[in-house]
Amino acid sequence: MTDLPAARLDVRGLVAGYEGAALVRGVDISVGPGEVVSLFGANGAGKTTTLAAIAGLIRPTAGTVHLDGQPLTRLPASEVVRRGLALVPEDRCLFSQLSVVENLRVAARRVGGDVDVAFARFPALEPLRRRAVGVLSGGEQQMVAIARALVMRPRVLLIDELSLGLAPMIVRDLLLAVRALADESDVAVLLVEQHVRLALDVIDRGYVLRQGSITVSGSAAQLRQQTDLLADSYLGTSVTA
Ligand SMILES: Nc1ncnc2c1ncn2[C@@H]1O[C@H](COP(=O)(O)OP(=O)(O)OP(=O)(O)O)[C@@H](O)[C@H]1O
Ligand SMILES: [Mg+2]
Repeated sequence: MTDLPAARLDVRGLVAGYEGAALVRGVDISVGPGEVVSLFGANGAGKTTTLAAIAGLIRPTAGTVHLDGQPLTRLPASEVVRRGLALVPEDRCLFSQLSVVENLRVAARRVGGDVDVAFARFPALEPLRRRAVGVLSGGEQQMVAIARALVMRPRVLLIDELSLGLAPMIVRDLLLAVRALADESDVAVLLVEQHVRLALDVIDRGYVLRQGSITVSGSAAQLRQQTDLLADSYLGTSVTA
């Protein structure tokens, strides 16, 4: 995994939404090589919309996205992937009737990638290679979703709701695997995570999005001091999980 070239993500003044409504309103985010950065926020705050606009799934109405100084803004999503930015979507979007290796091959074929990269990163998937994804546990499926992004050899990885429907212990293990990935291969990781306290144990920095704007940002240590602000941004949702 050490052969992935390092890159940084710079998002400036991003405005995006649907049908003319700006749901993301001037967001600035930077992630350096090997950094793990989290985007926190309540349901509907605009986290998925932000990631979708960065990845080129929806077209921002203003602002810029740069990968290592090269503009990605307004490139089609398929070209964004080729430039080295991969998204693990909120609903995982795996083919449940295909095996683990078949799911990975679909992604590898898109960019001439290699599925072995993913099995090397997640050895736990090796014995499940030929098993249909639909019968795997939620944590295993999430591992496949991240592995599928890895076969596209990303330099920047966006992960939306790593923990969706998973027990905290599994979330912790996945977060640690993402941390190891960033440490060992210098991939820049931007993740959306509802388990704030679990995330603060592994991330370098975080941003809090509220109604489409960043209201709080800082290092994990700084954010740990401000859990009241974080709780406020979650409009009453628990930050203690
Ligand atoms: N395809 C769409 N068309 C119109 N509005 C949408 C669409 N997708 C999301 N929205 C709206 O955009 C707003 C922001 O949604 P978004 O999915 O970005 O929030 P989120 O922070 O990811 O929330 P969650 O924690 O529930 O995943 C919400 O009000 C949502 O209803
Ligand atoms: Mg979302």
